[in-house]
Amino acid sequence: MASTRGTITSIEDLRQLAQRRVPRMFYDYVDCGAWTESTYRANSEDLARIRLRQRVGIDISQRNLSTRMVGEAVTMPVALAPTGLAGMQWADGEILAARAAERFGVPFALSTVSVCSIEDVAAHTSRPFWFQLYMMKDRAFMQRLIARARDANCSALVLTLDLQVQGQRHKDIKNGLSTPPKPTLRNLANLATKPRWCLNMLGTKRRTFRNIVGHVEGVEDVSSLAHWVAGQFDQTLSWEDVRWVRRLWDRKLILKGILDPEDARIAATTGADAIVVSNHGGRQLDGAASSISMLPAVAEAAGEQVEVLFDGGIRSGQDVLRALALGAKGVLIGRAFLYGLGAMGEAGVTACLDIIRKELDVTMALCGITDVAEARRALLEARAPAQPEPRLARHA
Ligand code: GLV
Repeated sequence: MASTRGTITSIEDLRQLAQRRVPRMFYDYVDCGAWTESTYRANSEDLARIRLRQRVGIDISQRNLSTRMVGEAVTMPVALAPTGLAGMQWADGEILAARAAERFGVPFALSTVSVCSIEDVAAHTSRPFWFQLYMMKDRAFMQRLIARARDANCSALVLTLDLQVQGQRHKDIKNGLSTPPKPTLRNLANLATKPRWCLNMLGTKRRTFRNIVGHVEGVEDVSSLAHWVAGQFDQTLSWEDVRWVRRLWDRKLILKGILDPEDARIAATTGADAIVVSNHGGRQLDGAASSISMLPAVAEAAGEQVEVLFDGGIRSGQDVLRALALGAKGVLIGRAFLYGLGAMGEAGVTACLDIIRKELDVTMALCGITDVAEARRALLEARAPAQPEPRLARHA
């Protein structure tokens, strides 16, 4: 059990601390999947089952973790994923996470449904960040968001393709998730046990969806916003819409939510620069295959035209290396950094990145490689019992 900051040695320690410090509805929003959560669990369980090969007799004294992701220099191949409501894990959470990422030298991706706005984050950082977008019915609003991202010097647009309808998350419904929380007896009782969170929140003006509220007519408060979001996601989304976004945005375009080789083949023809192999952290299609089990086949189908990134279940540097070995150029972490943010604010995000970097560095050494670019399938134990390959064969 993580009792003090001094004892934190793993992402699991950060998770436990976040669980104690963050109001239940916001902690649960992060730590949940859709319906039975079977895909959510499979993401990390399938990663953990992949065995790495221990190698010896190789000079591993000089090691390099730096590389490039979507053309950007990074100190390790890990970006902070776009996640909703980071500013409810800790006051001004998106600004703090973006600053931690900038200091660390890795990309930060801001969600459309963030608390801090594009302009808030841009005003507090100097490294260009990525901006995530959904396909919405209100194309004029999408165009305004894209223009705001351009004005804020965002270097990449991340278009999410797997959330046109929402997978049901039981906990959010049971908790009556809203931003800010409604003053019900249950919520007030829970908030009373989170004095640090309440104090921090009282010190900021950023407590609602600032990319949206004030930018869309008729959306002044949270209840009308929730209604607007439910009605806004465009279920007619087609590959032609993806090409429309491509035409509007002349910087890097990343398509997120590709889990099937057939979709990867099509995505590669859209002019996008990268795809993220993802099942939305198990928050959407419960029953879908784990992200890692699909990675090799999706990467092969994507070919050389697009860069392949990965998310889903990464909780350690060992997991990062597993994903690289199976074909990813880099990974996105969501919950791992949100646990850090909820536990300790900016210092917690830095702690998360530090933990992952040290684990990746030492794991590379113990596998006998000295550069992240050398991560290949040969790093993995050939006869491990639960490699993803058998399931992948059906999709190849
Ligand atoms: C938003 O993208 C979510 O998964 O809640």
